[in-house]
Formats: sequence, structure tokens, C-alpha cells
Amino acid sequence: MHANSRFVSSAQTGIHEQLTALVAKHAATEFKKPFMPYNHAAFDASIAAWQAQGAKPLILDAGCGVGLSTLNLAAQFPDHFVIGVDQSADRLARNIVWRDDMPANFIKVRADLVDYWRLMLKANVRPARHYVLYPNPWPKIGQLQRRWHGHPVFPAIVALGGELECRSNWRVYAEEFASAISQLNGTHVQCEAYAPDRALTPFEQKYQVSGHALWRCRATIQPAAWRG
Ligand SMILES: C[S@@+](CC[C@H](N)C(=O)[O-])C[C@H]1O[C@@H](n2cnc3c(N)ncnc32)[C@H](O)[C@@H]1O
Repeated sequence: MHANSRFVSSAQTGIHEQLTALVAKHAATEFKKPFMPYNHAAFDASIAAWQAQGAKPLILDAGCGVGLSTLNLAAQFPDHFVIGVDQSADRLARNIVWRDDMPANFIKVRADLVDYWRLMLKANVRPARHYVLYPNPWPKIGQLQRRWHGHPVFPAIVALGGELECRSNWRVYAEEFASAISQLNGTHVQCEAYAPDRALTPFEQKYQVSGHALWRCRATIQPAAWRG
């Protein structure tokens, strides 16, 4: 692991001035993008795997990359079942060096989260814990809508409920994520500095060895109904 990861650089230094209006618009508008068949198939397969293991409390590792965090979470929460979702077949297929016995309480699936999250909500499948770890920051001012909290799917992410945690090496991302949850959920969610003892994900490890500050926001959210 090289200590050469570049710091996020952006002309945006605080919460985007259009975030509140954008989140309000997305909360008030039905997001009607049709589901892609391959996402439906991936969703069905992952739910079948979860049910085959007794439908334990569910953990969603959203944007799991190579899935190291999926494995770490499965080992950390043996009485849960972890679903790691990523759109990159290449990342999901990479071999992970694992320290000892591989946990069995997880599955990694290739799907677009924009559909996967809404399929969960529609099927009333609720995560007990939900991780969004080091999403692409899209740090340019004009890229707000590419960040998850600026995306029309964000109300579905919050409606799923559970213990929701987002981590980033860009403070603004975690602050915006917290602000958007607060707006939708009516609670005050804060962004905090975070220094893990052991990295949960490859990106976390890369940022740690490169000396980046890490940020996270965590919220306990009551599930809300699907309104698609
Ligand atoms: C910066 S990487 C972080 C990976 C991992 N969480 C980590 O911390 O090591 C972001 C990941 O999100 C995935 N991703 C981005 N947009 C996605 C989408 N719409 N659906 C599924 N995965 C997505 C990418 O393929 C990528 O693996």
C-alpha cells in the first residue's frame, strides 16, 4: 500500500448552497427510473441467499468495491448477514487476502445501487445497519447531483432506515450527507472526525497511510414506507 493518495481538492469549501433545495425537490418528487432486469435478478439472488441463511438482521455494504469491508463486517457481526453491492464486476471479482477462516454470512452482488436501494424499499427489506464507505466524492461544484445526497435516490436511502453510516476523506461530503439526512429525517445528524484503529476498507487504508483526515456521519433512522 503506497502512501501517495491525493487529497480531495475542490473549490467548494462548505456545504453546497443548493443542497437544501435539491434534497427538498427530490423528497417531493417521485423518482420513476425503471428498474433494469439485471438489477432485479441480482436483488432476487441476494435476497434468496439471505433467506437461505435464516434472514438474519441485514447489513448493506453499499458500494463495497472489492468487498473487503463486506468480509470485515461479516466477521464483526456473525449474527447478521451482509450484502455487499457494487456496480463494478472487475472490483467484485478481485481476490481478497483474508486472514483466517472466511465468514459464510455474506454475499457480494453486482448491481446498480440506484435500483438496488429502491428494490429493497419496494420489497420492504430493511437493513439493520447500512454502510456507505468512501463513495466517489465528485468534488467539483457542478457535481453535487452525482454525490449520493444530491441524487434523486437519496430519499430512498434514508427511508430504508437502520443505523446508517457514511465515511469520506472529504469533510464536505460527510457534512453534506449529514445535513441531507437531518433535513429528511427531522433530526440533527453531525459529521465527526474519525480515526479507526484498523481500516475497514481498502480506500480507508489507502487514505490512512497517506495521512488523510477521515470523516463520518452516523444516524439511527426509523424506516419509512415505500412511495414509489
Ligand atoms: C471509491 S470506491 C470505494 C470502495 C469501498 N467502499 C472502499 O472503501 O474501499 C466507490 C465504489 O462505489 C461503487 N459505485 C459507484 N456508483 C455505484 C452505483 N451506482 N452502484 C453500485 N456501486 C457503485 C464503485 O464501483 C466503487 O467500487
